[in-house]
Amino acid sequence: MPLLKLENIYKKYNQGELAVMALKDINLTIEEGEFVSIMGTSGSGKSTMMNILGCLDRPTEGEYYLDGEDVAKFRDSKLADIRNRKIGFVFQSFNLLPKLSALENVELPMIYAGAKRKKREKTAMEALAKVGLGERVRHKPNELSGGQRQRVAIARALVNNPSILMADEPTGNLDSRSTVEIMEIFQKLNDEGATVVMVTHEPDVAQFTKRIVVFKDGQITDDHPVVNRTLSGGAEI
Ligand SMILES: Nc1ncnc2c1ncn2[C@@H]1O[C@H](COP(=O)(O)OP(=O)(O)OP(=O)(O)O)[C@@H](O)[C@H]1O
Ligand SMILES: [Mg+2]
Repeated sequence: MPLLKLENIYKKYNQGELAVMALKDINLTIEEGEFVSIMGTSGSGKSTMMNILGCLDRPTEGEYYLDGEDVAKFRDSKLADIRNRKIGFVFQSFNLLPKLSALENVELPMIYAGAKRKKREKTAMEALAKVGLGERVRHKPNELSGGQRQRVAIARALVNNPSILMADEPTGNLDSRSTVEIMEIFQKLNDEGATVVMVTHEPDVAQFTKRIVVFKDGQITDDHPVVNRTLSGGAEI
């Protein structure tokens, strides 16, 4: 059973008289353990696609099977529940709470999930160590570099053991060195079994992943494995 399966997905946005068909008849299957880039020009439907995959929004038509469940027609509260349990999000702008330390930011999803303090702290520390930030757990976001902030955000995305990590332009606000660091972390997590789907505009960034899916005008125009993949260690962008 594939982890994600989209069948004949359409997404229409209604803006008064102007309706935009942002996705048109999308069919896409992603297996557990894949590492996928979504590419395409501005307005091609990438974020719309990610919002549906991440259960932040529903398609207008079509079926979306996540772990075998047809989530496309779930009501809001059930969709939110699936989202909290199965999806870890990483955003371009990090979305950390500025008054909280790195550790507290990473603990947040577990607070919502009702975990006890000791367990939260232990799990958050482990997640921060995994992204190479074990030393800076008491720092606030403004005391960290962009790459370090994004690592905190990745740790936060990991703590509830999601089935899939989803990232919309996770390196969009980073310099080239931090971009390589972040992509190496995603590669490491993927090597350990995580399924990762990310949007990127940059071909060099996509080259770290294993598969590239290209969108154009709301449709998939290309879907191919990455050849000559950039591997961790000594990568330059
Ligand atoms: N909430 C919305 N309401 C109406 N139209 C929308 C909405 N969100 C997106 N659209 C439209 O849907 C189409 C796809 O937008 P989307 O944000 O998915 O593109 P994108 O590929 O992520 O672009 P970018 O690279 O600029 O982020 C565009 O024509 C956009 O204007
Ligand atoms: Mg977008």
